[in-house]
Amino acid sequence: MTDLVTLAEVGGSLAAIGGAAYARHAHPAAYWSTVGLPLSVARLLTSYSSTMEACGLTVQPARWRALAVRATTRREVRPVPPRRGIIRPTTTGLRMRLRLAAGQEPADVAASAERLRHAWGVHAVHVRDIKPGVVELRLVGFDVLRKVRMPRRLDAGPLRVPVALREDATAFVRDYRAVPHELVLGATLSGKSMYLRNLLTGLAAQPVVLVGIDCKRGVELAPFAPRLSALATDSDQAAELLPALVREMEDRYDLIKTRQGIAPGTPEELITSDIWGLPQDERPAPIVLFIDEVAELFLVATRKEEERRDEMVTHLIRLAQLGRAAGIYLEVCGQRFGAELGKGATMLRAQLTGRVCHRVNDEASAKMALGDIAPEAVLAACAIAPELPGLAVVGDTSGGWSRIRTPYLSLADAATTCRATAHLAPDAPALDPFRPYVPPLSAETPEPVATARPVTE
Ligand SMILES: Nc1ncnc2c1ncn2[C@@H]1O[C@H](COP(=O)(O)OP(=O)(O)O)[C@@H](O)[C@H]1O
Ligand SMILES: [Mg+2]
Repeated sequence: MTDLVTLAEVGGSLAAIGGAAYARHAHPAAYWSTVGLPLSVARLLTSYSSTMEACGLTVQPARWRALAVRATTRREVRPVPPRRGIIRPTTTGLRMRLRLAAGQEPADVAASAERLRHAWGVHAVHVRDIKPGVVELRLVGFDVLRKVRMPRRLDAGPLRVPVALREDATAFVRDYRAVPHELVLGATLSGKSMYLRNLLTGLAAQPVVLVGIDCKRGVELAPFAPRLSALATDSDQAAELLPALVREMEDRYDLIKTRQGIAPGTPEELITSDIWGLPQDERPAPIVLFIDEVAELFLVATRKEEERRDEMVTHLIRLAQLGRAAGIYLEVCGQRFGAELGKGATMLRAQLTGRVCHRVNDEASAKMALGDIAPEAVLAACAIAPELPGLAVVGDTSGGWSRIRTPYLSLADAATTCRATAHLAPDAPALDPFRPYVPPLSAETPEPVATARPVTE
């Protein structure tokens, strides 16, 4: 009988352990909220001082304090850890503020992040500078990038799209006002088009003119045609669309000039103001130009085409140089973007401030995107596994970088959003000749886009 009881007990605990291990793998968020969080909090509370001491983050106590301890308790005076704020649990981890002791800097804590993560049994520890003397520790309980779920409270706004999730479980926001142009690099099947898709649907609900150039006959961008104000599906059409955009940009500069009372002959570069300074009823809607596979615009087969190519590249460079003030923003996607593409490639690249690098096949490609940001970012981009498409390394303007991943969004869902928001497209008379044809939706025939399988390349 006792044997049976023992067997049942052992079996029961084995099942519990097995269940916990399964839950941890299959439902990491639920596991974190129920098991991981209490365990980590208990570890943190019991081992805080000793862990900080082991990580070299403690300092000698103030003299009055040492004297007081010695006088009252006769105990040995121990070094003190940074003062800890309250622990704030979240659905993905927990947060806690630390007040740095005199002589410490945030980099000291960041250097120990890996040790802290092991000590407290969490997936990762991120350190953020809050204000002088205070840092925030963000403990992440599990790998949030394996199955992306965007945070519920998002910091969206005009021309700000929360497009992906960072590894510290905060949203990565693509802010066109802060970073006007962006380069999205990655090997084929690495998730570039998914990134564009997320961005485009995010902008679809805003009063923004969306323009696409997709030289792969439009397989990626044509499904979004109802919301696009202009679409070029081969380089011939692109060669006509780009000058129209440049003309529109020049018209906008003229508008700003007349508003400022400057004679219309003044060169563009001298105008410092932008469309955002215009009164709202006169202000033209911002334009975002999406280019999927930019190399298609650069590649030429014959000598005759070369002239046209140079023209297109010049237009692109002008848009990148002067577009921001006219409210024209570029989102450029490509597999590689180096000098080998030809004249003007590096000049255009230098204008694209934002950098997103998906999985690449060689270090040289990663360097094209992130080389000027940080050498570690290049290594991180080279280490992205093919099993996780959509994972990317993004550099920010402050020289930092982080890993992000877009949420999965099917082509059909994105197309439905574009259809539903088609009426929100602002008027752009200059682009009317390039408006894509949208077949009317009939009740009997199923919507072709909705039935199409997601294009994978
Ligand atoms: N964030 C993601 N989560 C899940 N699957 C993704 C993600 N991003 C891309 N994929 C998948 O990876 C494949 C390639 O993505 P795609 O965006 O077409 O790559 P690219 O444009 O770089 O060739 C597609 O099948 C897509 O569904
Ligand atoms: Mg693609």
